[in-house]
Amino acid sequence: MYIDVAREKFEQIRNKEDMVILAIESSCDETACAITKGKEVLANIVASQIDIHKRYGGVVPEIASRNHIMAIQNCVDEALKQAKIQIEDIDLFAVTYGAGLLGALLVGVSYIKALAYAMQKPMIAVNHIKGHIAVNYIVNKELKPPYICLIASGGHTAIAKVDSYMDIEIVGTTQDDACGEAFDKVARVLGLEYPGGPQVQQLAKGGKASIDIPIPYKDIDTLDFSFSGIKTAVINYVHKMEQRGEEINKKDLAYSFQDRVTSIMVNNTIKAARKYGLKTIVIAGGVGSNEMLRQKMDIQSKKFGIKVYYPPVKMCTDNAVMIASQAYHSVLNGAEISDIDLDASATVKITDK
Ligand code: KG4
Ligand code: ZN
Repeated sequence: MYIDVAREKFEQIRNKEDMVILAIESSCDETACAITKGKEVLANIVASQIDIHKRYGGVVPEIASRNHIMAIQNCVDEALKQAKIQIEDIDLFAVTYGAGLLGALLVGVSYIKALAYAMQKPMIAVNHIKGHIAVNYIVNKELKPPYICLIASGGHTAIAKVDSYMDIEIVGTTQDDACGEAFDKVARVLGLEYPGGPQVQQLAKGGKASIDIPIPYKDIDTLDFSFSGIKTAVINYVHKMEQRGEEINKKDLAYSFQDRVTSIMVNNTIKAARKYGLKTIVIAGGVGSNEMLRQKMDIQSKKFGIKVYYPPVKMCTDNAVMIASQAYHSVLNGAEISDIDLDASATVKITDK
């Protein structure tokens, strides 16, 4: 039986610090394959579908799935070439099983199952959000739990107390939209292309905070977030100006929105670090590449003697190095491998395995 052979091979690498992992990520609009050896990245291939989805103003799930199918084999071939290794040299296969678009996830999961079965090697399922956090271990070798992590992506916004490589406690979360979702929607009303975050950031350059944007939970002591009121305030402002026939200062609007959203995220993250007495903050997820967010986090953290870690911009958005990194730490910390009945799951909690 596959699982017996896989378990036997897994026992041999369970404590192997330089294990070779091939990881696949296909949860949204990037088909990615990475190969790592211990904490070293041997290959990092990302085939982005952004140009395809731009035409529709956002990711179209069915189109994403089809493009993953077309791209996945090339990504793996490219990764093996870049890493200069053979498929036989891989110790462990890893894949994002959720959260994400179900059809898109299924491509990666089915592919890795077929590969692991054919090679009779172990495989492990990785939580996408835990991957976003874990990429920080690869790029900042000295980073270790415990710390406070701001998770800021297109689908999630939360503050996590990361107690170990496996255990995470959510201490603050959005009550409505994710911050990336707010960036994307605001970008759309400003007539900018998908994905909106980088476009809003670009437009905000040279702008100022001249437009009043509400502060959610102003008088409440909470680590939670709310972005839908902010998003609606921007949309209402645009409609009001259009009805009056007045010109909108788009630079100022982008700046005012970005300024408000980043301040909220930074304030809550610092508050969490102070509340739990932790001197390390980590930023994870696509919105984590936002320059204003990073600058504010650096400035505010310094005031309290807190050290901030974040990945380079291209490691903030979806990639497979992050999946390999979480797989690596999961294995060294007692995680179990998956059997051939492994399934994709569209909704996965940040705290799930
Ligand atoms: O983490 P990610 O790649 O995908 C998810 O797992 O959701 O995040 C994608 C999100 C998009 O909403 C995108 O607009 C946003 O990250 N984003 C940014 C920036 N770069 C990407 N938001 C603000 N500023 C940026 N520079
Ligand atoms: Zn992501």
